[in-house]
Amino acid sequence: MNVDVLLGLQWGDEGKGKIVDVLAPQYQVVARFQGGPNAGHTLEFDGQKVVLHQIPSGIFRADVTNIIGNGVVLDPIIFRKEIEGLARFGGDLRQNLVISKKAALILPTHRLLDAAYEQAKGAEKIGSTLKGIGPTYTDKVSRQGLRVGDVLSPNFKEKYRKLVDQHKQTLRFYQFEYNLAEAEAGFFEAVEFLKTFPLVDSEYLVNEALADDKPVLAEGAQGSLLDVDFGSYPFVTSSTTMAAGACTGLGVAPGRIGDVFGIFKAYCTRVGSGPFPTELFDETGERIRKEGREFGSTTGRPRRCGWLDLPALKYAILLNGVTRLVMMKVDVLNDFGEIKVCTHYHLPDGTVTERLPYDLCDAPVEPVYQTFEGWQTALDGLHSYDELPAPLAQYIDFLEESLGLPIHFISTGPDREAIIHREAQAV
Ligand code: GDP
Ligand code: IMO
Ligand code: MG
Repeated sequence: MNVDVLLGLQWGDEGKGKIVDVLAPQYQVVARFQGGPNAGHTLEFDGQKVVLHQIPSGIFRADVTNIIGNGVVLDPIIFRKEIEGLARFGGDLRQNLVISKKAALILPTHRLLDAAYEQAKGAEKIGSTLKGIGPTYTDKVSRQGLRVGDVLSPNFKEKYRKLVDQHKQTLRFYQFEYNLAEAEAGFFEAVEFLKTFPLVDSEYLVNEALADDKPVLAEGAQGSLLDVDFGSYPFVTSSTTMAAGACTGLGVAPGRIGDVFGIFKAYCTRVGSGPFPTELFDETGERIRKEGREFGSTTGRPRRCGWLDLPALKYAILLNGVTRLVMMKVDVLNDFGEIKVCTHYHLPDGTVTERLPYDLCDAPVEPVYQTFEGWQTALDGLHSYDELPAPLAQYIDFLEESLGLPIHFISTGPDREAIIHREAQAV
């Protein structure tokens, strides 16, 4: 058995949570492999809406073991709040949620450092979610961070103090004002709460599941264009959001990766700063934001909106080895008379290319668009590809041909049931 990977191909918020929830009944394990509470994955079912930040999106499916993997950065305070928020659904989550001892711990001072760095950057700020993601991964890589397993150590408080003292020096350097006392008290309470969950060597768990022929789904957070290596650096997150991140973030050998589900919206959004070639600053952008309810699931910030960007999508497909595409939020464009897709970029030197240039920040590109007729039909209740309005079917055919891959699912609404499964086919 292999590990299938599901990840975002754009700048995050593609709808990963919904598709993990839809696919989860086919899996026995769902595992998050990177990111942390910067993620906000929305699930809707039975008239209820839930936003998950650190807990894997398989949590509402019976018989699925959910793993927070070693590649994740975990904030115990947010974890506790999240678990308490799920109490209304009943059941003891300790039965089907385990946490890697090797996951990195987010301390309250990591959040302060995030804010201090952003404040110092001024107009050039990343637009971080301020959850302490960057500083926590920085401590991990510089080999001084704390890990979830450390909470079991009798010396935990000592280790904590040592790192926090160092953080305080940095905060002093940045002349950042803060009040740590309250957050710190909540942190230690949350650590005690965390200890009541199974803290495990999840790499063994994942590999034992594979050896026992139990299917595993790795759930990505953020999106490929926010990847620390291949995203629009420095306007990225601090982890490997690519399929390769599932190997290091769970302890899975590269040869064990199976299908890679690439999730993309029928248009693009981005929250935070950084280049966005197809961004719309006009009424059309406003309309997409309104129809798509494009406001951050984690921070509530309005998301920047624009047309679908094929060069960027092709780049993400290439680097991830995507085998199945999933197209989200098609319904958001239901009332549009025409729909544009960026097929190429016009570079400042006059060349036209399908490649993503090294520097999108200082040398912005001009998108070259192809226009399609809108379908102007509601898609409610449709469950078969054959029922799609002809202009939408033509648009999907065009995308499949350009991207060289079949679109496996088409999502037509936020609810779990609003999905069209297109049987796998050769393009
Ligand atoms: P994630 O971070 O990739 O899991 O995505 P988010 O949850 O941050 O953002 C996706 C938003 O779109 C959520 O509010 C979902 O409920 C919603 N959504 C998901 N699929 C669809 C869809 O097909 N149509 C519409 N209209 N909304 C969707
Ligand atoms: P999901 O999993 C969208 C963005 C932030 C910022 C940049 C760095 O819900 O798709 P960070 O807090 O990681 O230091 O922020 O990355 N960002 C996201 N944008 N969806 C996310 O997660 C994101 N997680 C981080 O807005 O631009
Ligand atoms: Mg999100």
